[in-house]
Amino acid sequence: MKYRICVLPGDGIGPEVVEQAVKVLKALPLELEFTYGEIGYGCYLKKGDALPEETIKKVEKADATLFGAVTTPPNIENYSSAILRLRQHFDLYANLRPCRSFPHEISQKGISMYIVRENTEDLYSGVERVEDNGNKAVTEMIITRKGSERIIRYAFELAREKNLRKVTVVHKANVLRETCGLFRKVALEIAKEYPAIEMQEMLVDACAMQLIKNPGQFEIIVTTNMFGDILSDEASMLVGGLGLAYSGNIGKEKAVFEPVHGSAPKYAGKNVANPAAAILAAKLMLEFLGEDEAAKKVGDAVMSAIEEGDVTQDLGGKLTTEQAGDAVARRIK
Ligand code: NAI
Ligand code: MG
Repeated sequence: MKYRICVLPGDGIGPEVVEQAVKVLKALPLELEFTYGEIGYGCYLKKGDALPEETIKKVEKADATLFGAVTTPPNIENYSSAILRLRQHFDLYANLRPCRSFPHEISQKGISMYIVRENTEDLYSGVERVEDNGNKAVTEMIITRKGSERIIRYAFELAREKNLRKVTVVHKANVLRETCGLFRKVALEIAKEYPAIEMQEMLVDACAMQLIKNPGQFEIIVTTNMFGDILSDEASMLVGGLGLAYSGNIGKEKAVFEPVHGSAPKYAGKNVANPAAAILAAKLMLEFLGEDEAAKKVGDAVMSAIEEGDVTQDLGGKLTTEQAGDAVARRIK
């Protein structure tokens, strides 16, 4: 089986880390065809658009997309983040963040969970207004049955696929009775279709606390957009932080995989950024493509490189970005 992979390196350290992920993918016994597309602030400066039509077409034609990072300048009017636009364009409704212990002192032991975050609605729907001469600001929190159903179903299907037993539905329905209430109601309905999987409910504040107190209890957390944004950042710090955190943006037809970090301008062009998050994003992409064996090889190679200290400076190592990529690729061959 041959896969078409669209690669969107982006800005800053994006191209440097993505190149290492491509290197690792090329070391696998898989038939992959790579097409590169432009995205981000550099692309905006060059072409007047941070997400040009030809890039969208490349994503459309590909089986999966690997994205690096983009810079989003804070002071250009009407400029919206290219990755946000990409997520919206392809309705990539599920944000998937695996969160697993690494063999490194930076990481807590005994953690293995997925955080599934709704990626399109909630307080981030963009419906905002100012009233009372600027003295009152309103942001609408929008939760729909359709949006809730598809994300909750995604979480239960993931549990089934990965042989996991428990899905924790996180909300704040005791206070946000309508919005979170609807999310909770839909979750209770869908859980009935999966009798082999336990559904646990947890209020978001309790969940934030439990993640610190006893993170090993979680298998899959599914939640609304903003809660997921916050909890997934919290959880990623338990196992190693930005150099290691990776994610997928998954829709009905398309999916885009990326390291969680941004373009880290201070490290751009210096060959020091940690490529592990981008390489692990590529691993998640392989799982999405159904190439579990190849994905496992990549995961094992990253773990072994970390365990043996073949890492970049952020993890206490001495390797450059390129050398850290080589260290993983070598372990695959
Ligand atoms: P950032 O994630 O780019 O960097 C924050 C800090 O984390 C860095 O200064 C560095 O110390 C560390 N770091 C990040 N990635 C690393 C890596 N691979 N290896 C080693 N250390 C790493 O976040 P920041 O500085 O807030 O944003 C910089 C730019 O990135 C902004 O323009 C922002 O809008 C954009 N951004 C883009 C994202 C995306 O493309 N998905 C996500 C987050 C921010
Ligand atoms: Mg965030």
